[in-house]
Amino acid sequence: MTDSVEQNGSIMEEDIEEAIHFTRVLNSFRSYKKDALAHVLTMEKNFLQLPEAHRKLLPNHLNILSGIKTCVEQNSAICMEIVKSCGNAFQNKSYEETENDKTTTNPRPMDLDKVRTTLKQIMRDWSEQGQVERDQCYKPIIDEINQRLPLNKDSGLNPTVLVPGCGLGRLAWELARMGYICEGNEFSFFMLFTSNFILNRTPHSSADNFHQFTIHPWVTQKCNVSTWDSVLASVRFPDVNPALLPPSSRFSMAAGDFLDCYKKQNTWNCVATCYFIDTAHNIISYIERIFHILVPGGVWVNLGPLLYHYADMPHEPSVEFSYEQIIQIVKNVGFEIVKDQRNLDSTYVNNPSSMLQYSYKCCLLVAIKPLSNS
Ligand SMILES: C[S@@+](CC[C@H](N)C(=O)[O-])C[C@H]1O[C@@H](n2cnc3c(N)ncnc32)[C@H](O)[C@@H]1O
Repeated sequence: MTDSVEQNGSIMEEDIEEAIHFTRVLNSFRSYKKDALAHVLTMEKNFLQLPEAHRKLLPNHLNILSGIKTCVEQNSAICMEIVKSCGNAFQNKSYEETENDKTTTNPRPMDLDKVRTTLKQIMRDWSEQGQVERDQCYKPIIDEINQRLPLNKDSGLNPTVLVPGCGLGRLAWELARMGYICEGNEFSFFMLFTSNFILNRTPHSSADNFHQFTIHPWVTQKCNVSTWDSVLASVRFPDVNPALLPPSSRFSMAAGDFLDCYKKQNTWNCVATCYFIDTAHNIISYIERIFHILVPGGVWVNLGPLLYHYADMPHEPSVEFSYEQIIQIVKNVGFEIVKDQRNLDSTYVNNPSSMLQYSYKCCLLVAIKPLSNS
């Protein structure tokens, strides 16, 4: 077998794997309703098995569970909209589905969990309720970029910013709205399908076409519930019209693995990472790559914790370093650190009404690639 035949073979295998994954993600969105309703039915069944005297103590409980079912139906309608909207945008030949695909690529429990997280992520990026988290995480990054890479008020090109692991794209979109030439990069189909739905579903003609969709991000929560009303709470999105970018703006979203997509040296004026660097198998390769793709004088702004995504995952390589060591790596790779701020409180897809509150002590880092290597 020649090298190229072997290579073509492995490219085809990759394509097939990707097509299966694509279908599995779509099926996960489709299965949200069945899965979430099954959980409510179990809650109902368990309640009905209580002694009558106990049930009588909470005469309204079955009505609450009915309310949860209604919210699940509404979330499912959004999931189906997401599925529908990615038909045209993503489905090329290799992704064409057959009825057979629908049954053979069943969602895994972890995929169903990702659908539930994606709904919470909509709250974080595209709702008024998410403003608290965006102020904690995106605002410090935006402030640093504004200060260090001022926009060109006259003619001429504005600085370029890359946002790897951009989730549902709000940070990248905000930077583009200000005038930066901004690209968001993301490899998760869950995120890509959903951001495509949000960014492209809003009709471009209408200035006030926002708040048009409703989700119930917390409806699958059953522990640490202070009141059921807080579980049923609705969130409207998007809180802004995503189509309202200035005519001269340049905003793009690129699908793919950060390390595969960005290899060209001296390309970007700025790389902005938020809750991203800990997604690496090897964080050093991310830091080296960020250094490589920045132009001399370019700025890396990072904010986030170190929740290493692959730590303790079977069959997944992972190295875990302390933040002290990250700083050492950043310096040794060649960056000059101009800001190293610690202990910034921030939350991630947090339900403020929950009796369990997770909060991170994040680090904000601003590092510059020197103009010369000397
Ligand atoms: C914790 S989330 C943060 C998302 C967003 N930056 C925010 O703050 O809401 C990390 C994101 O990085 C994406 N991601 C992880 N590894 C990636 C890679 N190698 N290339 C591109 N995206 C990646 C994940 O899919 C996920 O959306």
